[in-house]
Amino acid sequence: MAAAHMPPATLLSELEPVVARLLDRHLAQAKEWFPHQLVPYSRGRDFEDGYEWSPEETALPETVRSSLFVNLLTEDNLPYYFRTIENTFGRHAAWGEWNRRWTAEEGRHSIVIRDYLTVTRAVDPVALERARMAQVSCGQVPEPELPHDVVVYVALQELATRIAHHNTGKLIDDGVGYEVMKRVAADENRHYLFYRDLAAAALELDPSGVMLAIERRVRECEMAGTGIIDFDTHARAIARAGIYDFTIHHGQILVPVVLRHWAVEDVTGLSDEAERARDALVTRIHRIGKAGRRQARKRLEAEAALEERVPEPV
Ligand SMILES: [Fe+2]
Ligand SMILES: [Fe+2]
Repeated sequence: MAAAHMPPATLLSELEPVVARLLDRHLAQAKEWFPHQLVPYSRGRDFEDGYEWSPEETALPETVRSSLFVNLLTEDNLPYYFRTIENTFGRHAAWGEWNRRWTAEEGRHSIVIRDYLTVTRAVDPVALERARMAQVSCGQVPEPELPHDVVVYVALQELATRIAHHNTGKLIDDGVGYEVMKRVAADENRHYLFYRDLAAAALELDPSGVMLAIERRVRECEMAGTGIIDFDTHARAIARAGIYDFTIHHGQILVPVVLRHWAVEDVTGLSDEAERARDALVTRIHRIGKAGRRQARKRLEAEAALEERVPEPV
């Protein structure tokens, strides 16, 4: 029986020229930017001894604060994403060069978001630091075994992160937060394009192996915040605010990337196992779309019910 996928070492060496080309494209398109130029330091002041944060410090709603908290902690967990990527892709040639450059860019994201949140007192700095310690001390990130899965996972994840950052920014109207999140989202977009096109090249080289990986990644889709304290509560708040939910996951990630860009339904030359995986994948994507529509309907109904309960002003 044929192997389910191309051996990892073969796939990596076949893809190396593609990585080199995509890295060049990335570097040519990336604009230099500086966190200190975006952070509104004039709005800051010292934190006195015994300072205790309260929500009155900020005009940001709880849902947006939840999202900023999760987004920043995810960026903070960078060392473990680096580890997974280096273990999978190796540290040599274009693979290593890409990973180190990517790490430097991701580090800038946590710097700018943290400085912005601290200066504007948008979140409790003590809770944030404790959560960072807890998150980074446990070092949990998804660690798929095959490079096939890692490429697919990061492509979907970078796009999810871009959407979450950008949608969070759109809900901040203090004249600064939107610019911070928009700048970070622009980086995430370039990361996404790198991995999206890398995955497309992998799909051509090893259609069956990559199809199986796409099916696994969509099925096991874990949000990047796994391991964050109270993650489920934050995830619900993020969905409530329309920052990231099933509808977005389906309509802005699975359909445009998996169905349209990777065009999984048109891939030919698949093994029987990969054919079955593709059928399951397409069915799952349609089911996620339905779940999204149901979730949106329920949210609207809940909001309408809440409005009915609010007494009319007299
Ligand atoms: Fe990032
Ligand atoms: Fe990124």
